Amino acid sequence: MSKVYKIAIIGCGGIANAKHMPSLAKLKNVEMVAFCDIVEERAVEAKEKYGTPDAKVYTDYKAVLEDKSIDIVHVCTPNDSHAEITIASLESDKHVLCEKPMAKKAEDARRMVEVAKRTGKKLTVGYNNRFRSDSRYLKKLCEEGTLGEIYFAKAHAIRRRAVPTWGVFLDEEKQGGGPLIDIGTHSLDMTLWMMDNYEPHIVLGKAYHKLSGRENAANAWGSWDPAKFTVEDSAFGMIVMKNGATVILESSWALNVTSNIEAKCTLCGTEGGADMNDGLTINGERHGQLYDQKFHLTASGVDFYEGDSDNPPDVEMHMWIDAIENDKTPIITPEQACVVSEILEAIYESSRTGKAIYFD
Ligand SMILES: NC(=O)c1ccc[n+]([C@@H]2O[C@H](COP(=O)([O-])OP(=O)(O)OC[C@H]3O[C@@H](n4cnc5c(N)ncnc54)[C@H](O)[C@@H]3O)[C@@H](O)[C@H]2O)c1
Repeated sequence: MSKVYKIAIIGCGGIANAKHMPSLAKLKNVEMVAFCDIVEERAVEAKEKYGTPDAKVYTDYKAVLEDKSIDIVHVCTPNDSHAEITIASLESDKHVLCEKPMAKKAEDARRMVEVAKRTGKKLTVGYNNRFRSDSRYLKKLCEEGTLGEIYFAKAHAIRRRAVPTWGVFLDEEKQGGGPLIDIGTHSLDMTLWMMDNYEPHIVLGKAYHKLSGRENAANAWGSWDPAKFTVEDSAFGMIVMKNGATVILESSWALNVTSNIEAKCTLCGTEGGADMNDGLTINGERHGQLYDQKFHLTASGVDFYEGDSDNPPDVEMHMWIDAIENDKTPIITPEQACVVSEILEAIYESSRTGKAIYFD
C-alpha cells in the first residue's frame, strides 16, 4: 500500500479554508492530522471539518514540529511569519508549502532557499494561478516557442476597489506591503514563468498612498479604516531583465479604472503575442496578414494533470503531493519564488530612494 502523508496546517484562516483544506481533503494519500492557529477556535473548527478523528489542535507552531510523524507542513499565516515557520519546519524534516509571497523580505526568501537545499526537503510557494487552465495552456505555447523571444510583458494586478479589509492585509509590519506584495506577486510570478526568465538587471518603481486615507470608501469588502491602512494602495514597476526584456508590473487594490485585471499577463514576442484578458488570445502575423486566435479552453485535456478534477486548487495540491511522492521538482520552485520577492523588494526600495535598483 502506498504511503499516506500526514499534513499539518499552520494558520487556519482565509486561504487555508478556501484552498488548502478543501483540496487536500479530496486526495486519498494525505490526511490532515494537526491544525495550528493563534486563535484556537479557528484550529478547532478546521480540525472538526477536515481532520482525522485523532487530529490535534495547537496554538504554537513549534509544538506541531515536535511531532515526528508529520511529513508536510502548509504555512498559511500572514507574510511576516512565512520565513520563520517555513525554516523551522524544514529543519524539523518536513516538506513545506508556504503561501505567497514567499517572505516579507528578500533576505528571508534567500534563507528559505538555502535551508531547503541543505535539508533536502521540498519547498514550494502557493502561486496557485499557475494551475489555471489558461495559464497552463499559455505556458505550453511559450515552451513550444509560439511567441518567439518574449521581450516585452505586462504583469497585471489591478482592482478598481477591492481592498482586503480582513486579517492584517493593511498592516505594513505584518505583511511587508500592500497590493504589490499581495497580488502583484501573483502576476509577476506568472509573467516570469511564462518568459522563463529569472534574471533581473534593473528595477525602477513607485508605490502610492493616494486612496488609502479615504473615509467610507466604496469597496468590495466594506470600507477600510484609514488609520490602519499603513501599506500602499498602488505600486508600479519597470523591470529590465539581463537579456534586455522589459516587464511592466502594475498593482493596485483601489485605482480609478473601469475594469479589473488581475493575476494575468500580456506577453509580446518576436513571433507573436498573448493576452489573457477575456480568455486567452494569441496574436501574430501570417502571410502578410495579422491574426488573433482565441482559445476556448475546456476543463480537461491540458497538460500535466490527468486527475479527476481540473479545479486549480485541486490541481495545485495534487501536483504538490505528487512531487513529494515521486521525488519531482515542484511546479513552483523556491528559487523562482525568491526572485519574485527580490524584484518586489527592489520596487519598494526604488520607490523609497527614488533610484533605480541594479542587480549584479
Ligand atoms: N494564494 C492565494 O491566492 C492567497 C490568497 C489569500 C491569502 N494568501 C496568503 O495566505 C496568507 C494568509 O492569508 P489569509 O487570507 O488566510 O489571512 P487570514 O488572516 O484569514 O488567516 C491567517 C491565519 O493565520 C493565523 N496566524 C497568524 N499568525 C500565526 C502564527 N504565528 N501561528 C499560527 N497561526 C497564525 C491567524 O490567526 C489567522 O487565522 C498570507 O500570506 C496571504 O498572502 C494567498
